[in-house]
Amino acid sequence: MLHVAVVGSGPSGVYAAQGLVQQSQVPGVRVDVLDRLPCPYGLVRYGVAPDHEKIKSLQNNLRTVLEHERVRFLGGVQVGPDGVPTSRLRELYHAVVYCVGAATDRRLGVPGEELPGSWSATEFVSWYSAHPDAAPDGFVLGARAAVVIGVGNVAVDVTRMLARGAAELSPTDMPQAALAALSHSQVREIQMVGRRGPSQARFTTKELRELGALPDTEVVVDPEELALDPAYTDPSGLPAAQRRNVEVLRGWATQPPRGGSRRIRLRFFLRPVEFLADQGSVGAVRFERTAPDGHGGVTGTGRYEDIDAQLVLRSVGYRGVPIDGLPFDAEHGTVPHLAGRVLRDNSVAPGEYVAGWIKRGPTGVIGTNRPCAKETVSSLLEDAPVLARRELPDDPLAALRAEGLRPVEWAGWRAIEQAELELGASLGRGVVKLPDWDSLLAAARARAS
Ligand SMILES: Cc1cc2nc3c(=O)[nH]c(=O)nc-3n(C[C@H](O)[C@H](O)[C@H](O)COP(=O)(O)OP(=O)(O)OC[C@H]3O[C@@H](n4cnc5c(N)ncnc54)[C@H](O)[C@@H]3O)c2cc1C
Ligand SMILES: NC(=O)c1ccc[n+]([C@@H]2O[C@H](COP(=O)([O-])OP(=O)(O)OC[C@H]3O[C@@H](n4cnc5c(N)ncnc54)[C@H](OP(=O)(O)O)[C@@H]3O)[C@@H](O)[C@H]2O)c1
Repeated sequence: MLHVAVVGSGPSGVYAAQGLVQQSQVPGVRVDVLDRLPCPYGLVRYGVAPDHEKIKSLQNNLRTVLEHERVRFLGGVQVGPDGVPTSRLRELYHAVVYCVGAATDRRLGVPGEELPGSWSATEFVSWYSAHPDAAPDGFVLGARAAVVIGVGNVAVDVTRMLARGAAELSPTDMPQAALAALSHSQVREIQMVGRRGPSQARFTTKELRELGALPDTEVVVDPEELALDPAYTDPSGLPAAQRRNVEVLRGWATQPPRGGSRRIRLRFFLRPVEFLADQGSVGAVRFERTAPDGHGGVTGTGRYEDIDAQLVLRSVGYRGVPIDGLPFDAEHGTVPHLAGRVLRDNSVAPGEYVAGWIKRGPTGVIGTNRPCAKETVSSLLEDAPVLARRELPDDPLAALRAEGLRPVEWAGWRAIEQAELELGASLGRGVVKLPDWDSLLAAARARAS
């Protein structure tokens, strides 16, 4: 019988576990899904925006996998230097599938990026999602104008969260401190800025349209800035998704002002070159105006524009972090692989696999991880006859416990869910997430025992 460790309980980890237990090629595979957090579901819990309840409810589909009789969830188990070494996992399991995502942010590499008031979208998302490692409050405190750098779906998410009011945020599972801070936010103007043109923006049309439906918020675009993109004037050659984006933007460019107490400006052809300080914190971002180079890229024009902002969110993509003991492609932030099999010095490392963002890089929606995990599982199952030859301890969990590990098991996670329901009820809200390690672990340990 094959015993597999899946490291990471985000979509790719859960889809990998599902693929392993729902197949007949190698019967009886058992899977332990390890996560450094006491809570499962990765970015579905700690990334998907709280006001996207329908997507959040995908957690219920993932739950059925983690409740499968041959799957165990082991939360609070860090794999790597401060936890279980990768080499130890290899001793305990026939195979290990790393599905650890892309936990950090890409950098712009421009002066002033580290000024107080400049945050990565990753940090802001973690805060409003109650990630226990999130920075404390202070994002919107004292800010009246915000700049969001990047025009992907995460940029749209954080822009929308800045523009939402208390009435819309209160029914979400957002932690109470973030709800209070965003409800009292004085941010009135949010500029979301792309370095290329509207036809090259990475956001999807459904997400873009949502900005136009926000209550009490006006969306503003400058038709002249949009027209710098030749594809704006003639979108006939664009793929359907980009054409739809351009049509939505054109609609906003031609509509009469709608008014509202908040304004979202979508800006294009501006690349950030410097963050300017005002009394020690960020006060503005200097952008260089760009022009299309005719090949999908842009060139600088030597003309600059400063946009005032006391809050800057850099939303220019996530980035994978190396796992000690695994090879790492630093340029792409991924683990090198061949059809999901980890490659060490260009050779397949038997028994080690990857899936999800750490395999492909930080792009793709939840569903993209399903075929990605399927490919990895197919490789693993092909290798199963060789992998299964190794004699291993009967129960890796017993061995880990003997080494002092106290994982949060499924009952512990269910106890966290119950505590979040009770916290919400006490605040007159629905489920409200516990935002810190102490309260998560206390809930898990108190009720699970
Ligand atoms: C802000 C944001 C919003 C998004 N919103 C949507 C959306 O609305 N709809 C949509 O379809 N897609 C959305 N996506 C994309 C989607 O979330 C990703 O495609 C998906 O989560 C990637 O899955 P993954 O399993 O590779 O990584 P993750 O979901 O990041 O899961 C990785 C897991 O590994 C664990 N882990 C990491 N390191 C270790 C370690 N050393 N030891 C043990 N465990 C570890 C982490 O705790 C985490 O649980 C969003 C992405 C982001 C960033
Ligand atoms: N609702 C949803 O379905 C949803 C929500 C959130 C996230 N997601 C998915 O999660 C994935 C990650 O999203 P993401 O928004 O983080 O990444 P993304 O889609 O890759 O967008 C990154 C943005 O940052 C810009 N950028 C990169 N480097 C830059 C630089 N140096 N200066 C200025 N701009 C720079 C990019 O511009 P260029 O194009 O010019 O490089 C792009 O606009 C995506 O696949 C996304 O669709 C989905």
